[in-house]
Formats: sequence, structure tokens, C-alpha cells
Amino acid sequence: MRLITNALLLAVVGISALGAEDLLLEKAKSYGLEPIPNDIDTLMSIINDKNDPISYPKIELGKKLYFDPRLSKSGLISCNTCHNLALGGADGVSAAIGHKWTINPHHLNSPTVFNSVFNQAQFWDGRSPHLADQAQGPIQADAEMAAPQKLVVDRVTSIPQYVEDFKKAYGANVKITFEKIASVIGVFERTLITPSPYDDFLNGNENALNSKEKAGLDLFMEKGCTACHNGIALGGTMQPFQVASQYKFASLGDFSGDENGMVKTPTLRNIAETAPYFHNGGIWELEEAIQEMGSIQLGIDISDKEAKSIAVFLGSLTGKKSQIIYPVLPPSTKNTPKPSAD
Ligand code: HEC
Ligand code: HEC
Repeated sequence: MRLITNALLLAVVGISALGAEDLLLEKAKSYGLEPIPNDIDTLMSIINDKNDPISYPKIELGKKLYFDPRLSKSGLISCNTCHNLALGGADGVSAAIGHKWTINPHHLNSPTVFNSVFNQAQFWDGRSPHLADQAQGPIQADAEMAAPQKLVVDRVTSIPQYVEDFKKAYGANVKITFEKIASVIGVFERTLITPSPYDDFLNGNENALNSKEKAGLDLFMEKGCTACHNGIALGGTMQPFQVASQYKFASLGDFSGDENGMVKTPTLRNIAETAPYFHNGGIWELEEAIQEMGSIQLGIDISDKEAKSIAVFLGSLTGKKSQIIYPVLPPSTKNTPKPSAD
């Protein structure tokens, strides 16, 4: 199919009219790679959610809640603890550590929140369809923030500035529910997107990637990585795992995918910033992760040199983070339920 597409393209456009860059660009598109759109209307049509449309007051409120550790039972853990926006949107440890220093019971690694809006499913087993729903999980999970819904609503509604912020975001009659708190955090997350040199290239600037990055991109496609790492996220869909052989750290933790053994393909955006890799954080070096992918997913050996080349390409997926001003959070009141270390 791909061969046909390329052949057709050459026939229609004429090879002499195309430079090598144009060919690589067309090839990337024919392999299903897509840029973050550089025009705001197209971008908004992808990241917006009609159930809770993006607005500035919501982004600001969602940002405060994202950074507010009072959404956790202990008063110490925020979303940013494990999805640190200064650390590529992840935490840099193999398995997440939450309430009372609990290690994730399945030894799961925290995925990055950057560009998670482009995922078609959230969580390693894809059990959540979108960000507004997803955010309800970690707040309540015993091994993460361990806060019952009522505690979270009581904390937020005891703080007059938050009540004001909700009115500004949703109108004077807003009812502050647990679902609304999660949803507005989701609105903030939908803005966490990071355009990169790779996007500039796919959007038509042929000088945005250097020759080594271009060679790595070509190899990435030739090896078959784009079978699963495609679309805007270069991932984000459910795919079979251990297609050709067993993952060498399969026994670390007990995760085995969804009920069909499928695993959410992680985005490769900002991958150079989010070691360790794989669902259980078993691999620390990017080149080793690339070689492991070759053997377990494609049944091929990727040489050290090839892995290096692909890693150079993956480096071009490190994107520009929007500047996030650390929010000053509104003070608790005498009615705010106290933190608890139990
Ligand atoms: C204790 C660490 C921890 C905290 C705190 C935490 N998370 Fe997570 N997050 C994780 C782990 C681990 C996963 C993967 C869990 C799974 O797949 O079952 C995850 C998954 C996610 C995902 C899915 C991303 C993807 O690519 O599948 C998003 C989005 C996310 N968290 C956002 C949040 C938000 C928003 C908060 C705050 C309300 C939060 N997280 C709090 C550790 C944490
Ligand atoms: C058949 C689908 C498929 C193919 C082909 C594939 N991958 Fe993956 N990739 C996945 C899945 C699924 C995961 C998550 C596996 C896990 O952690 O359980 C993953 C994980 C990764 C990771 C770790 C990401 C992270 O954040 O932990 C990297 C890096 C990666 N792949 C690169 C590649 C490269 C490079 C190729 C080509 C040599 C490739 N993949 C081919 C599906 C695929």
C-alpha cells in the first residue's frame, strides 16, 4: 500500500520536480506521520472538547488545581508531583510513588502529560477515553493522591477564591462537583502541547531538521516503527505488545495490558526527556529502548549505529514548552479539611 502511494506520487508530481526533502516529507505523510497543526483553528478543532470548551478562566483555574497538593489526602501530592512540567511532564522514576510513599502496585511508570490530548486512549491499558475522565482516577487512587471525592469538593469549596474562580469560569450558578474539578484540570492539560522542529519540517520548512535527523526519520519509517507510532502523537493508540518476542523486563510488576493484551502506545514526543521507558520504567537508555522495540515488536535486530540514528531523530521531537508561571494558590480557611497522613 505504501509502495503504491509513493509510486503514484512520483508518477503524478514527477521526480525531477521534487527535492530529497520534499520526498522525505511526502514519505512521512504517507507513513501516517502528522504535525501539530500550525494554524490555530485546525489545532483548536483537535484539542477542544465541546463538553467543556477551552477558555482562559478555565485554563488558569485548571492550572492552579493541577499544582494544588490540597487535592490529595496528605496535602502534599499534586498532579505535578508525578507529572512534573519542569521534567518533561513525568517524574523520572521507574514506578510512580504516591500517598504514604506507596510505589505503584503494578510498578507502572508515569507517562508524560505533555501532548496527552492527542492520545486516543489514556492510561497504559487505555481504560479512560479522555482527560476530563482520566483526572478523576489519580485523585482517588490509594497509591496516588488517596482523596475521596467529598474531601476534594469540601477542600475546594472551603476556599473562597476557588469558588470565585469557578464562577468566572462556568458562570454564577456553577455547582462545584468532583467531576467539574477533574474536567477543568483536563482543560488545562489540553493546552500542554509542544511543537518541535519535527513539526516545522512536516509543516513545510525543509531546513527545520538537519541531515542526521532526516536520516533518522527515514530509518524510523523504514524499520516499521510508524506502524504503531504514527499520527500527531506518534502513538496514543492501543497496539499489541510483545508481537515478536518477550520484553526483557516483562516480570517487573504485573501489568499485561488490557483484556486483549493491548497496550497504549506512548507518544514519542519529548521522549529524550522522559526516561525511564516502558510501562514499568525498566529501561533507562533511549537507544536500548529502540533496540528492544525492534526485537519485541518487529522481530528485527537494530544495530547500535541504527539505534543512534533513530535516537537523533527522536531528539527532534523535543518540543517547545509554553512558559508556565507557577501559580500562587489561594489560602485555606478554618473550614478547609485538614491534611491527613493516614
Ligand atoms: C503518584 C503519581 C501520580 C499522580 C499524583 C498523578 N499521576 Fe497521572 N499517572 C500516574 C501513573 C503511574 C499513570 C499511569 C497509570 C496507569 O496507566 O494505570 C498516570 C497516567 C496519567 C495520564 C494518562 C497519560 C497517558 O499517556 O496515558 C494522565 C493524563 C495523567 N496521569 C494526569 C494526571 C493528573 C491530571 C493528575 C492530578 C489530578 C495526576 N495524573 C496525578 C502517576 C500519577
Ligand atoms: C506493534 C506496535 C509497535 C511498533 C512496531 C513499535 N512500537 Fe514502540 N511502543 C509500542 C508500545 C505498545 C509501547 C509501550 C510498551 C510498554 O511499555 O508496555 C512502545 C514503547 C516505545 C518506547 C518507549 C516509550 C516510553 O515512553 O516509555 C519507545 C522509545 C519506542 N516504543 C520506540 C519505537 C521504535 C523506535 C520503533 C521502531 C524500531 C517502535 N517503537 C516500534 C508499540 C510499537
